[in-house]
Amino acid sequence: MAVYQALKTAGVDAVTIDTANGFRSKLKRDPVDLVFLALHGIGGEDGTIQKILNRFKIPYVGSGPQASSLAFDKVKAKQIFHRNGIPTPRYAVITTKNWKRILKNWQTPYVIKPVQEGSSIGIFFVEKKQNPAKKVEAALKKYDRLLVEEKIDGREFTVGILGSEALPVIELRPKRKFYDYQAKYTKGMTEYLVPAPIPEKLTKSLQIMALKAHRALGLRDLSRVDFRTDARNHPFVLEVNSIPGFTETSLLPKAAAEIGLDFSGLCLKLLSMAQNGSKEK
Ligand SMILES: Nc1ncnc2c1ncn2[C@@H]1O[C@H](COP(=O)(O)OP(=O)(O)O)[C@@H](O)[C@H]1O
Ligand SMILES: [Mg+2]
Repeated sequence: MAVYQALKTAGVDAVTIDTANGFRSKLKRDPVDLVFLALHGIGGEDGTIQKILNRFKIPYVGSGPQASSLAFDKVKAKQIFHRNGIPTPRYAVITTKNWKRILKNWQTPYVIKPVQEGSSIGIFFVEKKQNPAKKVEAALKKYDRLLVEEKIDGREFTVGILGSEALPVIELRPKRKFYDYQAKYTKGMTEYLVPAPIPEKLTKSLQIMALKAHRALGLRDLSRVDFRTDARNHPFVLEVNSIPGFTETSLLPKAAAEIGLDFSGLCLKLLSMAQNGSKEK
């Protein structure tokens, strides 16, 4: 709705389409020139809708199906980070069959998360001396595979990518144990610092690393790269979001505002990127 209102205000002939209600027949009946995807999670960020729009030959903002599905799969993305020398926390993949054997060799603290999710859903920490058995078994009832990751104990940052540019770094300071669902979506639960109060050298290296991750995954137009730094200020890429949050107070719009690009300017810029680059997908 934020995008829709901004585009309307800017004079764009915009409509909203809900993917839940037979949108294929709606698109056939009333074709559109361009789509601004504002979807999160499975079906929206994983390449599904992108594949459908390719079939309809309708250009859209953001990445194509292949890059979207790579970015959405945290294991595939980490393999690509490795191949490209992009630091990411050490990890293993566990299933019902192998979790006991694998976790025996992992020292606490570590993090367990779904391979394909978002909004911090399904993420939990296993702290010193904690026995993870019950939580792991419950999680493996919901997800076939889980990612075990080394806990990076330090600060948290995110870097938006717009076109071929890295935006100012944002530091996130959640008032909760970590940047969980409540911290993400409840007003006042997280403090956001733009630009992040860090040395210029760290800012540059986060921006360079973010662009490298975006490119390595083959993403386009926009993305948002999530980082944690350890006690020695070494950054690690947690993941790349191919469709970052897009309300006026979301992180990428916040970073764009910092370089003087307001919300409707940002939406228009993305529309024109989609228009100009649609043939490459
Ligand atoms: N390895 C880790 N070490 C410390 N905190 C982590 C780690 N992985 C995730 N987190 C915390 O969980 C949040 C969500 O993790 P992330 O991998 O970005 O998944 P999501 O797709 O749900 O956003 C992060 O923003 C961070 O606060
Ligand atoms: Mg994240």
